[in-house]
Amino acid sequence: MENKNWIYAENLADSGCVGFCKAIEIAKPVKSAEVTATALGIYNLYINGKKVGDALFKPGWTSYNYRLQYQRYDITNYLKSGENEICFLCAPGWAVGYLGKGNINHTYAEHISLTADVKITYNDDSALELVTNPTWDTVSDQVVSSEFYHGETQDLSVAPMIVGKAKADAVPDTRLIPDEGADVTEHERLKPLKLIITPKGERVIDFGQNLAGYVEIRVKGNRKDRVTISHAEVLDRDGNFYTKNLELARCTNTYILSGNDDLLKPKFTFQGYRYIRLDEYPFEEVDLSRFTSVAVYSDMERTGSFSCGNEKVNRLYSNSIWGQRSNFIDVPTDCPQRDERCGWTGDVLAFAKTAAIHYDVSAVLRKWLHDLILEQKSDGAIYGVVPSVNERGMRVSTAWGDVITVAPWEMYLAYGDAELLEECYPAMLKWISYIRHSGDEEYLWLGGNHYGDWLAYDAILSPEHREGATQTDLIASAYFAHSVELAVRAGRVLKKDTKDLELLHQNIRKKFREYFIKDGLPTIYPKYDALSVNRPVKGLTQTSISLVLRFHLYEGEIEREKLTDKLLELIRENDGKMNTGFVGTPHILHALSENGRVRTAYDLFLSEKNPSWLFSVDRGATTIWEHWDSIKEDGSFWNDCKNSFNHYSYGCVFDWVYTWVLGIRPMEDAPAYQRFTLAPHPDERLGHAEGSIKTRYGTISVSWRYENGRINYSFTIPEGSSAEVVIPGDEKRMYSPGSYTIAGKCL
Ligand code: BGC
Repeated sequence: MENKNWIYAENLADSGCVGFCKAIEIAKPVKSAEVTATALGIYNLYINGKKVGDALFKPGWTSYNYRLQYQRYDITNYLKSGENEICFLCAPGWAVGYLGKGNINHTYAEHISLTADVKITYNDDSALELVTNPTWDTVSDQVVSSEFYHGETQDLSVAPMIVGKAKADAVPDTRLIPDEGADVTEHERLKPLKLIITPKGERVIDFGQNLAGYVEIRVKGNRKDRVTISHAEVLDRDGNFYTKNLELARCTNTYILSGNDDLLKPKFTFQGYRYIRLDEYPFEEVDLSRFTSVAVYSDMERTGSFSCGNEKVNRLYSNSIWGQRSNFIDVPTDCPQRDERCGWTGDVLAFAKTAAIHYDVSAVLRKWLHDLILEQKSDGAIYGVVPSVNERGMRVSTAWGDVITVAPWEMYLAYGDAELLEECYPAMLKWISYIRHSGDEEYLWLGGNHYGDWLAYDAILSPEHREGATQTDLIASAYFAHSVELAVRAGRVLKKDTKDLELLHQNIRKKFREYFIKDGLPTIYPKYDALSVNRPVKGLTQTSISLVLRFHLYEGEIEREKLTDKLLELIRENDGKMNTGFVGTPHILHALSENGRVRTAYDLFLSEKNPSWLFSVDRGATTIWEHWDSIKEDGSFWNDCKNSFNHYSYGCVFDWVYTWVLGIRPMEDAPAYQRFTLAPHPDERLGHAEGSIKTRYGTISVSWRYENGRINYSFTIPEGSSAEVVIPGDEKRMYSPGSYTIAGKCL
């Protein structure tokens, strides 16, 4: 599509919605007809009042300053002979609406604008083509206002009305590209669990599941009656509706009824919620059958499955899945409810591997990585959020920016996507060069302003101290080594000359050990760490040891054993609990398991103490929380701000479950599970476990079960792949495609 023919509506209020409409006369039989369109703002296309397609929030969210997706629709079957009306209904969306902390709008554009062309080919091969221009009408619609954060207002008691003519608009400075990601559409439909009258006397409906989407209500009231609903993720400890954690996001939908049968649901917004409160509801009785909660997210094929004999773990698994659903709405986001909902790079880094197993995320992450590459600064810096929202106060942080090496590598392992790896490779090198030139030590990353081991439990002294106790210089330098190591691996796959990178890696390792390893254990390098002044910093933390082990920054088996023993000791000293944050959590169970301590990894996985994964499950969580104790032991909240109940990051524990409990591991030299290892690690506390991954080569499935003093294993290796199978207590063997059952010994 060519970047021209933009129109807008004058005098439109900030949160206002606008329709752009054009009447067309169809005089002859139509052979085919199509519309190509895009907007700054979001839009729906209607032909004769009927919405075309089921995708929501088009044109989707990209780094609009660089690129904007356009859509093509086949409208042949929507047209009739005689007069037809083509209408685009537009709302502020990401480009014009409120976005990012601080309630700021107009991030990318001053006003809503649209461009479209319509091509109709008749049976006699003559054609009619029209484009958006000032002959189009502007229409005030029943959607009066709409914002992602604040919600939507619809007045169904009025008919849409022509209010003027469109104005020609300036051509935005961006590139138009065809759709790259996956359509956002409606998915699960949930009925209410119950109606609650809260201690405050409010009418609240519980849908039983936290999610991102919206509530549909079927009503028939009097004309001009009002229905207003607010949304919340949790009730407070007294059982009252709680919205403080939504911060500045109002998350309220209002409908003015038509007087006929109305189906109430928003068109241009979504909320993150489990509960709704009926703020205005003109009926005495609440008939729950009129309410439906609809999950909305990007179309992705479900590829992973898991269940086991522990119901709490099964709930945790469901929470991780729902965390992904709620946060893959075109862009992978931190959370779907408060005034944030942004593509935080560190959250993607933590969750990418799990995400790529739960669902086929290739389309969503490919699009997102393309935006990340475009937004990378010329010196290689990668800021915390992509697409960028508001760089004020945003940090260039280790373990956030490193997503450029981690995510493409995980996509390569999961899907064999060497093309994406090739596209990302230059950006990986730029990121590495950025780190190399930050500060005055070429082979380390000292100083800087990092997010640290974000929300780690070992240093949270107050809500203002969120960076954890691990020295950020150590984290940054360890991740520097890791990113270079991944770039070496990527380079080898892509047949690049990796000699310089290998040398760089050796130098980083050497320097890292000089600065951060003393007597075989992590230590503090005292000179730097801007953040350490405000919080306790320790050399020996669960996170520092996990990183040294996982990124192979130790020397020899004795040191490795010493590190592992120290990690066990730190866990023991901490009453058998973890205390890691966003950086350590994705690694700690792997660090233990890769070093012969699968049993301890299971201990942490199955712990119900605070902090632990099951702590939230015991408190009724239906999604993964941002904090280990978003709800504390006494039932109060961690804080009113920055307390999301739907953050996918800690849901990353399922990459450990797929890798260790089920034991399915892709091989680097035959990615996409063409060849893989199958090395399950049963634990009698789960009793049984079963799961599968639908790969590019077919579905791998595996199960194990403790039965009559034995462990029975079953597994299927799909056609076109092969596996190296290691059943505990047995030798490693190669298996070809087929289904197998093996009786193993109890360990
Ligand atoms: C987000 C996180 C993000 C962080 C940066 C938060 O506001 O919700 O998940 O990674 O900021 O530290």
